[in-house]
Amino acid sequence: MSSNAALKLVKNDSSFVSSFNEALDLSSYKDGHSLHYVISLGSIVNPAAASHFISNYSNKGELIFDPFCGVGTTALEALIQNRNSIATDINPLAVKITNGKIKALNFADFLFFIQTLNLQGLVATPDIEFESFYHPKTLSEIIVLKNKLAQKNSDFLELMALSILHGKSSGHLSVPTFPQVSINSEQQNKLNIENGFFPEHRSVVPRLIKKAANVLKDGLPLDFLKNSEKSYSFEANALNLGYLKNNSVDLIFTAPPEPSSKINSKIENQWIRQWFNTSEDEDWSSVRFNSDDEDEWLDFMNTVLVELCRVLKNKKNLVLEVDPNKISTNKFINMIKSELRDYYVFEGQYHSYGKQTALQGTKKHLKKDYLVLRKI
Ligand SMILES: C[S@@+](CC[C@H](N)C(=O)[O-])C[C@H]1O[C@@H](n2cnc3c(N)ncnc32)[C@H](O)[C@@H]1O
Repeated sequence: MSSNAALKLVKNDSSFVSSFNEALDLSSYKDGHSLHYVISLGSIVNPAAASHFISNYSNKGELIFDPFCGVGTTALEALIQNRNSIATDINPLAVKITNGKIKALNFADFLFFIQTLNLQGLVATPDIEFESFYHPKTLSEIIVLKNKLAQKNSDFLELMALSILHGKSSGHLSVPTFPQVSINSEQQNKLNIENGFFPEHRSVVPRLIKKAANVLKDGLPLDFLKNSEKSYSFEANALNLGYLKNNSVDLIFTAPPEPSSKINSKIENQWIRQWFNTSEDEDWSSVRFNSDDEDEWLDFMNTVLVELCRVLKNKKNLVLEVDPNKISTNKFINMIKSELRDYYVFEGQYHSYGKQTALQGTKKHLKKDYLVLRKI
């Protein structure tokens, strides 16, 4: 059902709302732009859903906001669809990855830029933390690159480097190891002994070029670079988005953190990428949402939704992707309808069985709920 059809069901007075409850089939969507697949750190927003809601609930040139941007799926999809994007997250690594996507270069420009990059000259001092992962010559090149990036910021180059830092294939800089999380040096040493792995020299620049060629194989859409200039990602707590103006955003599409007993999610278990990341690392981990208590989550979301209402333009939409296996969607909807009735009309919900893309390794079908709210 199109958003227009959905809107017809909703009257302006929130007490007479007749909300929709529909299946949403995303299986006809293609996997999405190759840049979505640059790095995989566990659960991400379904690019097909981001694409669907951005095209149905906003217009070209409008501003799309994601306050829990993770690896920047919404932000990238917004730019691809000729919108502008602001994307925030409490985790500096998430912001770094998102900025890398927003500030993507054309492959020819990347090649020109990288040809001037000289990573030779340093001899890395032996470091027990890294020696089970990298050959000393590889580590030297990585350190030179890290220092250069600290002096001259290039978000896209940094994203390419973050994505090849460690993993299983010869395109990565490390011995074969887990791509999604960083294990510690003792665990890696054990893996090396068990499997006969030995860190060999892996030259950085050719691997950066190969990676960029791969993630840019779909090319950048015509207006991407123009939209990129007006798009940003920042570190911010979704509970307080003070720097964002009132009534400034045309659509919010986001997947909020869910109640979880896991202390370390994949996006947090990242000591190697965090070491490489050149942004200031303030203590964000104590501020992020981290509780397995559903009532605490409802309180958190209540405060977040009030703050999101402030930045959203009147009558514009906010769409939330939630996992019905992790939260009770009905309890959440009831909270929105009762406690937030002065802020939002609950327009309705979609259930999708869209194709889960290669980001998860397997092409399985994943059930998600999409809750559509409209600012009063
Ligand atoms: C489910 S993930 C979002 C997935 C993301 N949309 C993607 O495609 O990768 C939730 C995100 O919320 C962030 N987060 C947790 N608490 C937060 C808070 N209080 N403010 C802002 N971001 C927060 C986490 O760092 C994580 O990146």
